[in-house]
Amino acid sequence: MTGTRPRIVVSRWIPDDAVALLREAGDVWLPQPDRALPAAELHEVVAGADAAVVTLSEHAGAAFADAAGPQLKVVANVAVGYDNIDVPALAERGITVTNTPGVLTDATADIAFGLLLSVTRRLGEGERLLRSRTPWSFHLGFMLGSGVQGKTLGIVGLGQIGRAMATRARAFGMSIVYTGRRRAPAEVEADLDATYLPQDELLATADVVSLHCPLTSETRHLIDAEALAAMKPTAFLVNTTRGPVVDEAALAEALREGTIAGAGLDVFEHEPDVHPGLLDLDNVAMAPHLGSATVETRTAMATLAARNVLAVLAGETPLTEVTP
Ligand code: GLV
Repeated sequence: MTGTRPRIVVSRWIPDDAVALLREAGDVWLPQPDRALPAAELHEVVAGADAAVVTLSEHAGAAFADAAGPQLKVVANVAVGYDNIDVPALAERGITVTNTPGVLTDATADIAFGLLLSVTRRLGEGERLLRSRTPWSFHLGFMLGSGVQGKTLGIVGLGQIGRAMATRARAFGMSIVYTGRRRAPAEVEADLDATYLPQDELLATADVVSLHCPLTSETRHLIDAEALAAMKPTAFLVNTTRGPVVDEAALAEALREGTIAGAGLDVFEHEPDVHPGLLDLDNVAMAPHLGSATVETRTAMATLAARNVLAVLAGETPLTEVTP
């Protein structure tokens, strides 16, 4: 790299502010016009890169690193979840991995709570009714939903986004139970008035179960047919983390059979595909993975990723490194 500018490969469109930052440190390659690169093509363009910026749609593991070459120093993921990155394989090759925690917490919790309201209050269903020009008239029994005040929200994974979801739910008069690999610090529990429960008790108790755990080998299909059967038939499931945390076929079946009352989904097991069994059900509110999709949040995520790249290329400690 001596005497030449670093090569920085960006796998997909990112906001201009972040590109400008990256250009301070090196020559930036981006697909133009923007498109999803098939893995083979991504591996071709990453050859010779000193740094790579990727999104959750690209997998970066051993093949990616080997295609890049031994000079690759950093892979900056523009996402908080990093299940698309084989962190041990990259660490083995001395490559730093970074993610973007913190900056998308509120945006994601907003979408989670939006989906909670959308499914419990039948907003999508109501809009579909209007758009289909179906005759309707106001009456006291028309399209009754389920109120949230006084109900219990069960949070799976009380990390930053889980806590932001709890804060929103408290403001709407819900009480909070949570489960996860470990208990939150006592002050967090006290702040949110949140009670820890083992997962089976949480599933049996909560009126809404909202998933905020990362996707790992332990959480893949955490919500399967058995977990869904453990929920109350009046309960709702909200998923804004990663699709594979839920067995989507089992969920479609549970929603059709009335095992649970409804679901709000921002993520899907095989994105961009959605299980066909979900598409015709009225008790599902869906969004196409919009959790962090605001101008402000995406700019903050991409500039954080860019700052991580700049730090590593300058031989400094990145701001938000993923530790293997
Ligand atoms: C989005 O899904 C993220 O993990 O940041």
